[in-house]
Amino acid sequence: MVKLSPSGLTSDFLTLEKVLKQFEESGVDMLHLDVMDGIFVPNISFGVPVIKSIKAHTNIPLDVHLMIDRPHRYIKDFAAVSDWLGFHYEAGSDVAETLKEIRALGCKSCLTIKPKTEPEEIFEFLPLCDMVLVMSVEPGFGGQKFMPNSLPKIKALKAEAMRQGLNIEIEIDGGINAETAPLAVEAGATVLVAGNYVFSSDNIPETVKQIRSL
Ligand code: DX5
Ligand code: ZN
Repeated sequence: MVKLSPSGLTSDFLTLEKVLKQFEESGVDMLHLDVMDGIFVPNISFGVPVIKSIKAHTNIPLDVHLMIDRPHRYIKDFAAVSDWLGFHYEAGSDVAETLKEIRALGCKSCLTIKPKTEPEEIFEFLPLCDMVLVMSVEPGFGGQKFMPNSLPKIKALKAEAMRQGLNIEIEIDGGINAETAPLAVEAGATVLVAGNYVFSSDNIPETVKQIRSL
């Protein structure tokens, strides 16, 4: 069964609690939270205080996706409110040190690559990762079109993780919907992020069930 991590980026934060209850009842695996600083990506979202309030209202593990410049500066702050904590390979931090710090602070570590980054560039860091995140859109905004060049990257990361004898979650983020989710699963993704597709559904529990049964 593939895991689902709905992305709340485009949700109404004042009514999120109701949606969180539906997620809990329908067995959502993680909640994906997109942190954007207006520098690493051309958009600004939210930070630690918002995540802290979400954490106080749900038991769903929080999957925090940092899209911020030099993320090592903020790992301690975000680790305190995250279960899974990921940052971008391209964001200007020492990758190995940052992954180690995330684990040392008790979170699961995740390394993320943008659509133009080749998977081979991160092979050496896989032993330090609990999850890798392959972006299937340019990070910054929800509701963009899925980029199929993410699929061979997932395959390559899966094969390399197996070669190294590692059991790593492979997450995909951007443009996931009824058509693209099966392609991602077939390529080897084990965690699907879905923003608009889940949040705009008029039957959230049914949509969650459909995706998780792929
Ligand atoms: C984009 C974010 C995504 C986004 C996904 O930068 O990382 O998590 O919310 O939204 P959809 O599923 O609508 O593409
Ligand atoms: Zn994301």
